[in-house]
Amino acid sequence: MAEFKNLTYNNSKNMLNLILFGAPGAGKGTQAKKISEKFHLLHLSTGDILRKAVANKTELGIIAKEYLDRGNLLPDDIMIKMVENTIKKNTDVQGFIFDGFPRTIAQAEAFDKMLVTLNMAINCVIHLRVEKDILVDRLLKRAEIEGRSDDADKSIIENRITLYKQKTKPVKEYYSKLEKLTVIDGLGEIDDIFEQVDAVLSEKL
Ligand code: AP5
Ligand code: MG
Repeated sequence: MAEFKNLTYNNSKNMLNLILFGAPGAGKGTQAKKISEKFHLLHLSTGDILRKAVANKTELGIIAKEYLDRGNLLPDDIMIKMVENTIKKNTDVQGFIFDGFPRTIAQAEAFDKMLVTLNMAINCVIHLRVEKDILVDRLLKRAEIEGRSDDADKSIIENRITLYKQKTKPVKEYYSKLEKLTVIDGLGEIDDIFEQVDAVLSEKL
């Protein structure tokens, strides 16, 4: 178990908070699972929360379904509230891995304000960089295995990648200016990529 006692982070709760950034299919979920196992951080995947809400046909799920199925982004205010509620429900954690959030500049700005009120801060943003052709291949392959509605059709995948370029990529620049960004090549063996992620995070301990 990672030892966080006696360590000082730039937030008053002594947490390690990480944003995993990257295009659809970049490997955020895959790496988050490994990070969460090693560093005991809570994996907060906005996509996973939404898919669960859709499966359970909750009020949020009914709204979310049509966005998810088409590969469109949900409205910022819904996402910001959802993340805030999830953080507030998990007070006893050593840190969070934010996967899939923030995804727009408006979300990043609101997130910064939220973190101040929660006495938290982001320690590190890791961008898993993968080229487009590989992303499409990975997601089409995953469609056969997992059957996610937004992997089902190449045009939905293309829409997700286009929205990533238009709305989400500027978030990378946002964190780069704050000197929090590390770029890691997301191509290659999953374990080799994790070794690099591990090295970046271990430096923060
Ligand atoms: P979300 O669930 O966040 O999906 P995404 O960003 O499109 O990313 P993916 O989950 O598809 O990919 P990943 O990077 O996690 O890759 P993975 O590890 O699975 O969002 C879904 C939807 O929810 C959005 O479209 C939107 O509608 C909504 N949403 C969510 N957050 C939102 C927000 N903040 N604002 C508004 N709307 C929001 O890997 C992919 C595949 O590749 C897997 O099969 C994996 O096994 C394989 N793989 C992984 N690494 C490697 C490797 N190194 N080599 C070979 N294969 C690999
Ligand atoms: Mg994912």
